[in-house]
Amino acid sequence: MNTPSGASGLVAEGVTISYGAVPVVRDVSLRIPDGGFTMIIGPNGCGKSTMIKAFARGLRPAGGRVMLHGRDIWSYRGREAARRVALLPQNPIAPDGISVRGLLRRGRYPHHTLLRQWSPDDDAAIGFALERTGLNDLAEAQVGELSGGQRQRAWIAMVLAQQTDLLLLDEPTTFLDIAHQYELLELCRELRDEGKTIVAVLHDLNQACRYATHLVAMRAGRIVAEGAPAEIVTPALVEEVFDLRCEIVPDPQTGTPMVVPEDRRRAAAAT
Ligand SMILES: Nc1ncnc2c1ncn2[C@@H]1O[C@H](COP(=O)(O)OP(=O)(O)O)[C@@H](O)[C@H]1O
Ligand SMILES: [Mg+2]
Repeated sequence: MNTPSGASGLVAEGVTISYGAVPVVRDVSLRIPDGGFTMIIGPNGCGKSTMIKAFARGLRPAGGRVMLHGRDIWSYRGREAARRVALLPQNPIAPDGISVRGLLRRGRYPHHTLLRQWSPDDDAAIGFALERTGLNDLAEAQVGELSGGQRQRAWIAMVLAQQTDLLLLDEPTTFLDIAHQYELLELCRELRDEGKTIVAVLHDLNQACRYATHLVAMRAGRIVAEGAPAEIVTPALVEEVFDLRCEIVPDPQTGTPMVVPEDRRRAAAAT
């Protein structure tokens, strides 16, 4: 591979995506910082999943381009792109009866060719992914029989096994209890410290503010603001993006912005 390690080189240039007549991502330009942990936030239906899919060639933009290392992502062969970008979709579906190891084997598919099938590299990649996600003891378990937290780790392990520099995770913490949410975010942060570039869609603004090195706020298919959480998260932004009135206080643990929604009864009584 001629990919500089740790470099994502992912850039959206005026990307527009439509399912029908109406575009759901509108002329979005965005440079994903290499080696960063970028979080995308925004209300339901604003186009987050659509955009992140386009970053992994899951959708072809109607206008504009997604550039990967200076080349249109669609100019790569499929496997070549999949060796550089891995996407965990919002609602991944595991084949019936597949084991954790079986799932991870699928992550190795982009590394195979007609001449080069299974190799020790594949075993090493799977071993690494199992180790990092704490799934060694569950490698032979069926994915369908895992708890929610374990299953989510299995999916993360699958994208890890793909051994890309760039990981795209669409709502990786949804359906997890609060402790498992933080466990997963910590794992992402460690991976980022080790050189991966991570992009995640997250619903919890306070978690996003704690973990993101770069925050992207979307509304109605457009980017409303981007930057370091402390620089962009204000009551005005939260109201603009989510139609929610709030106070922002420093997170007592980290000092990062923490959103405290306004109590509507109290606000009504005060006026
Ligand atoms: N496959 C599809 N066909 C038609 N419309 C879709 C499809 N997927 C998403 N949409 C619509 O596109 C908009 C953006 O969806 P999505 O990107 O999933 O938003 P988000 O991830 O921010 O919740 C929504 O209005 C949604 O209903
Ligand atoms: Mg979504």
